Amino acid sequence: MKFIHFGPVIGGVRISPVLCKELLKRGRQTTISHTQHLAGHLDKENLYTDKDKHWFVENFKQYFIPYFRKIQDQHDPLFYYAIHPFKKCMIQNLWINFMKGGEYNPPHTHTGSYSFVLFLQVPEEIKKESANFKGIGPGPGHIRFQYGEEQPEIMTKHSILPVVNELWIFPASLHHSVPPFKSDVERISVSGNILLTEGVGVKNTPTYEGGELSFTGDKAEFNI
Ligand SMILES: [Fe+2]
Repeated sequence: MKFIHFGPVIGGVRISPVLCKELLKRGRQTTISHTQHLAGHLDKENLYTDKDKHWFVENFKQYFIPYFRKIQDQHDPLFYYAIHPFKKCMIQNLWINFMKGGEYNPPHTHTGSYSFVLFLQVPEEIKKESANFKGIGPGPGHIRFQYGEEQPEIMTKHSILPVVNELWIFPASLHHSVPPFKSDVERISVSGNILLTEGVGVKNTPTYEGGELSFTGDKAEFNI
């Protein structure tokens, strides 16, 4: 028997702790607030500098490339997502989220083509709260992805308990949310949006606000 399932593809990968430590160090030095562009009910969400972004691309592209290759795979008819092949993309923006107890992220989508979240700090208190959570739906501090309309007996949602140094990549149009936790701790994650700059990106490239970065030859761009 063959099985075909379809819908959005979410990719998860564990990142080198040394790189995550450096990313957190750089994140703690950020000063430009990004909250006015985000859906989260968080006090502190800061943009990384262009220099940080270029450092990120150089060191983290190795983790993104397998995801982009997988979703472009046209040889396996059971894993065929009809995505027009593309060879280049760029990090459009990169920011860090410092989430405190009581803060949350309502269901939202991102701009760009693909997005990601990388967990840099997940205190034990959140894991304990999560284990003790009695309700239905995503536990405290989880990230919950949701796709399409609810259908009986078909899974349209996935909730993920954050694990430190884990990166999750997903389509930017995929709805996701984070319910609050109660403990007086800080959950720290880094997010970003990726823009396709070749293939499908040429036709469908969204307008880049402000145009402060060029699409070609920018250091934030990398080859798949
Ligand atoms: Fe988000």
